[in-house]
Amino acid sequence: MMDFIQIKRAMDIGQGKVSIRGWVHRERKSKKLAFIILRDSSEIIQCVFEISKFESRWKEIDKILIETSMEITGEIKKDERAPSGYEIQVDDFKVIHYAEVFPIKGGESEGFLGDMRHLWLRSQKMTSILKIRSTVVAAIHKYFRQQEFYEFHTPIFQAVQCEGGSTLFKVPYYGQKGVFLGQTWQLYAEPGIFALEKIYTVEPAFRAEKSKTSRHLTEIWIAEMEMAWSVFKDIQDHCEALIKYVVKYVLKKHRKELEILKRDITCLEASIKKPFIRMSYDEALKILKEKCSMDVEWGKDLRTLEEEKLTKLYDVPIIVTDYPKIVKAFYMKESPGKPKCVQGCDVLAPEGYGEIVGGSQREEDIEKIKQRLVETGEDPKEYEFYLDTRKYGSVPHGGFGLGVERIIAWICGLEHIKDAIAFPRTMSRFKP
Ligand code: 4AD
Ligand code: MG
Repeated sequence: MMDFIQIKRAMDIGQGKVSIRGWVHRERKSKKLAFIILRDSSEIIQCVFEISKFESRWKEIDKILIETSMEITGEIKKDERAPSGYEIQVDDFKVIHYAEVFPIKGGESEGFLGDMRHLWLRSQKMTSILKIRSTVVAAIHKYFRQQEFYEFHTPIFQAVQCEGGSTLFKVPYYGQKGVFLGQTWQLYAEPGIFALEKIYTVEPAFRAEKSKTSRHLTEIWIAEMEMAWSVFKDIQDHCEALIKYVVKYVLKKHRKELEILKRDITCLEASIKKPFIRMSYDEALKILKEKCSMDVEWGKDLRTLEEEKLTKLYDVPIIVTDYPKIVKAFYMKESPGKPKCVQGCDVLAPEGYGEIVGGSQREEDIEKIKQRLVETGEDPKEYEFYLDTRKYGSVPHGGFGLGVERIIAWICGLEHIKDAIAFPRTMSRFKP
């Protein structure tokens, strides 16, 4: 065999002899001809075996089933009738491994596909999403590095809650109590800005959510940033710029994958061209009442249903600000002139996707933080390391967390967030 090239590259060359390798995507055989569609990570291509060339080896060809791994050398040419527009007339081949009968044949239930996740990853749908996921994470790193943020890492084993005690996963820790899997990097990121000023991370986070919805996972990845000297608007501006950057990058690189996913990209295109909508919580309630006939009592958090209705009114994300203090975390800064509200913002993705980012300006007043901790049933003693950030040269600062799976679900137009990650973890699934 010659040097192997990827199928996409072979198609770009478009003529002459090529050697490719991959897995059988589909196969159809008759007495004289075999059509094998071979797949690699780049493309699929139809390969034609003629009995005149392989009389003595036809038994070998006959045994080839879906997902058999093999190498093929042959003449490539354009063919309009072939599934990807090209075809290879096979001259030589080598089977690397004969696959057993593949358990996924099409039309299986979501539950079965969940059990077969390790094999379902090979589907065109999952492969396309996983490529987009890789690009989303690359874009996040590029954005923050261009903006001169340092990458900063924090522990996953933590002894403090940040987003509410009810969603903590306790872990055994050498017989010690009170150790949890991190919900967010934030309480460790805030000390970090005093050394590095502008920091970011992309890391796993854990939420013991008790909700079985299409937007909740128990193990997620979050892209988080924290910056010194910020005002609230800086946080919102970075949210918007980051999301625009990520969407633009995906649109540039993944037209084909978005087509495979049958994604209507109207809102994605609008979101990179037009400014996001910004409104306060109060304004959001007013709009929900006037345009959606939904009455939300002041002081209640926006639920999935309300976010869904609100986001369907616009073709770009909405940044909702100044939520009631009682529905937000203890560390958010009081809104100037609105003591019942905080400078927290959620970014809600269009088309009903809802919250993809949560962020805020941070409270600087140590007494207010302590009071909020007590109000939420926490012991400020446990937070001494964190409170030190307000004792030694405290500065205005803020940050946000972008749910990686949430933004992927929106970009890809997924029905369920579980498909935004290779091996999802939910309330009901922790295998395979
Ligand atoms: O809104 P959250 O809880 O904010 C924080 O954790 C802050 N400490 C971030 C910060 O300011 N550094 O979570 C951030 C984002 C949410 O907006 C959502 O996109 C995602 O993380 N998220 C989840 N995604 C999927 N499943 C879950 N159970 C999620 N919980 C949060
Ligand atoms: Mg949130």
